[in-house]
Amino acid sequence: MLNLFYPIARSFLFQLDAEKTHDLTLRWLEKIQNTPLESLISQPLVKDPVECFGLTFPNRIGLAAGLDKDARCIDAFAAMGFGHIEVGTVTPRPQPGNPKPRLFRLPKAHALINRFGFNNLGVDNLIENVKRAKFKGVLGINIGKNFDTPVEEATQDYLICLEKVYPYASYITVNISSPNTENLRQLQFGEALDELLSAIKLKQKELSEKSSIKKPILIKIAPDLNDEEIDSLVKAFLKHEVDGLIATNTTFSREGVEDLSHSDEKGGLSGSPLFNSSTEVVKKLSDKINGAFPIIGVGGIDDASKAKTKIEAGATLVQVYSGFIYKGPRLIHSIAKALRGI
Ligand SMILES: Cc1cc2nc3c(=O)[nH]c(=O)nc-3n(C[C@H](O)[C@H](O)[C@H](O)COP(=O)(O)O)c2cc1C
Repeated sequence: MLNLFYPIARSFLFQLDAEKTHDLTLRWLEKIQNTPLESLISQPLVKDPVECFGLTFPNRIGLAAGLDKDARCIDAFAAMGFGHIEVGTVTPRPQPGNPKPRLFRLPKAHALINRFGFNNLGVDNLIENVKRAKFKGVLGINIGKNFDTPVEEATQDYLICLEKVYPYASYITVNISSPNTENLRQLQFGEALDELLSAIKLKQKELSEKSSIKKPILIKIAPDLNDEEIDSLVKAFLKHEVDGLIATNTTFSREGVEDLSHSDEKGGLSGSPLFNSSTEVVKKLSDKINGAFPIIGVGGIDDASKAKTKIEAGATLVQVYSGFIYKGPRLIHSIAKALRGI
């Protein structure tokens, strides 16, 4: 039903401050999930099962991280027909994030700029919310480090979160690519990456032996990488036998939006203007890894044809964030249907 009304709801909601709209919407979804009012947002799940990372995804489209950072609305998003839902980024301790305003719309470009900085209520709170949810589908939990943990000690934060979320996640995403936590992206390079991946894989082995279930761990990377950096990332991912990648996070680039209002705001740009560079990264990675592990493609998808292009570039699954804000739940269904049997 919301499908029909989304353009009207959006024109009302877009009058309000972007973060206020986000908070209001999440609060409403939290209230109506698992009640008869859930029918306002529910859509049938498109069935197109895909095996990936040892998991069965009911279709190829998922919700990207960052929209439901504290996992408050899992059942509402499930009702909309997402084949998988990624919650987080969550950090070991709660933190407020950066000062407001920190989310901006660039409607002409179907884009957003955010500098939230991992505002979240901490990993223990997220786990309580996950336990309360009725959802039995594929749930990704995206983990990060607290802003005041020095980057040299970041591994410890990831290990704390990994250990805590492991029993509750279908897969875990290690986010080393947010542009809004100082120095976080340094973890994508050299010894820092090597040390982090070694520690994560060791912990995964320990946890999988203890629980007799191996949960896939994916690494989420940035779009702002040159060829040399992609080469060295691929080497590290192959050496450490990561289970998969999510490409990509938001970009520092402002190409294509230079003249639009808010384009000079600090933070990560997402949505339509990110599509080409993000897809290029998927393509380069996919060419180099030669099928060693799957890639989830995210960045700038706002219609079925862009989702198809992402798959053709080498992604097995796709996720959406900004496109979902601009197009609403209808987008999920149209993409899931277009990718059926691809
Ligand atoms: C407001 C906002 C908050 C985000 N927060 C996170 C986050 O906490 N963790 C993360 O891994 N990605 C985060 N992202 C990045 C998205 O998951 C996604 O990778 C990126 O926006 C590109 O996809 P899109 O063009 O469909 O938005 C955020 C994106 C936006 C727009």
